[in-house]
Amino acid sequence: MSSSGTAPAANSGSPIIEVSGLCKRFGSFSAVENIDLTIGRGEFFALLGPSGCGKTTLLRMLAGLELPSDGTIRIDGQDMSFVPANKRPINMVFQSYAVFPHMSVLDNVGYGLRIDGVPGDEIRRRAEEALELVKLGGFGARRPDQLSGGQRQRVALARALVKRPKVLLLDEPLSALDAKLREAMRLELVNLQETVGITFVIVTHDQSEALSMATRIAVMNQGTVQQIAPPAELYEFPASRFVADFIGSVNLLEGRVEAASGGRIRLACPGIATPIEMEQDRLPAVGSTGWVALRPEKIDITKEPPVEAGMNTVSGKVEEITYLGETSVYHVRIAPDLPLMKVSSANLDRVTRRAFTWEDPVHLSWTSSCGVVLDR
Ligand SMILES: Nc1ncnc2c1ncn2[C@@H]1O[C@H](COP(=O)(O)OP(=O)(O)OP(=O)(O)O)[C@@H](O)[C@H]1O
Ligand SMILES: [Mg+2]
Repeated sequence: MSSSGTAPAANSGSPIIEVSGLCKRFGSFSAVENIDLTIGRGEFFALLGPSGCGKTTLLRMLAGLELPSDGTIRIDGQDMSFVPANKRPINMVFQSYAVFPHMSVLDNVGYGLRIDGVPGDEIRRRAEEALELVKLGGFGARRPDQLSGGQRQRVALARALVKRPKVLLLDEPLSALDAKLREAMRLELVNLQETVGITFVIVTHDQSEALSMATRIAVMNQGTVQQIAPPAELYEFPASRFVADFIGSVNLLEGRVEAASGGRIRLACPGIATPIEMEQDRLPAVGSTGWVALRPEKIDITKEPPVEAGMNTVSGKVEEITYLGETSVYHVRIAPDLPLMKVSSANLDRVTRRAFTWEDPVHLSWTSSCGVVLDR
């Protein structure tokens, strides 16, 4: 990118949302703390984090429903400081997607256009078009109470899309739906986003939802952004224990860094006989505390010690087994004072006789490249 002062004719190559130093305080409480964030055009961006971490507050500031205490928001290249909510090229689907119960589906969808004074036949045409988009063509005459929960959710989506925003903000749009429907709606949302080409910013506290839908995810905790990365990178290369633990399931082994050079790290972990060796570009300082983060599915569980050389190995005893249908998770005691290690293994055959049972002595092993060493 050139850094000459002239703005491009259209803002086609520039990001759609630029947030810088954004803060929101309620009294002395800091709900959003110094967030920097850039979202590209056409992205399906997810804000992921535990309850109360500031996701809705951040979204409401983007929408103009809440004033920042500090920092700036630019949308489509324009500073939003003095732009009211109804003048922003943005629309929001709320956490509790209220639809008007006394209005028909078509009137619900056209409501925003009517407020804007759009002529009647255009409202009708655009509302019908939006209903087509969310696969509710032909449902226009019904009232919301004659729809299923999933269909009502789609009415809320159509109502937001009908105004053709540049950005659509979705706050926990699937939280009211049952598990099966949520999964179906994930795919629908992704397809819808591709069809309309609008930038989607979705809030969720469900990691599998974020992983399956988003182009990039920002993981939030206590008002701050912990890491921003595409789903696979976030899963394979979490930057902190919080992210590793929040995204999926993880084993964390704490140790002291004994050696770190040439892309290899050796850690001495209390309770584990042999030092653990891991490979990684980013090297921690020798003498510092490090945490080996290992996903349960990357660990092998066997009756005999592994024969291959260069494997990290610990031994232990199976203490608990969780059967999850397609996988079983073995919880293995490797030392009296350490948390149980979780190891998941695919149930390829129907489980009539488990490979391992309670109290079985087992060996856990993993290669040096299948996890990360974290320093915070
Ligand atoms: N108007 C307000 N006045 C005071 N505190 C508020 C206000 N709005 C939000 N908060 C506080 O700010 C924090 C962040 O709230 P927010 O609604 O953004 O969380 P969230 O990440 O969306 O959580 P959830 O996943 O539960 O929806 C919470 O601790 C909340 O209590
Ligand atoms: Mg919220």
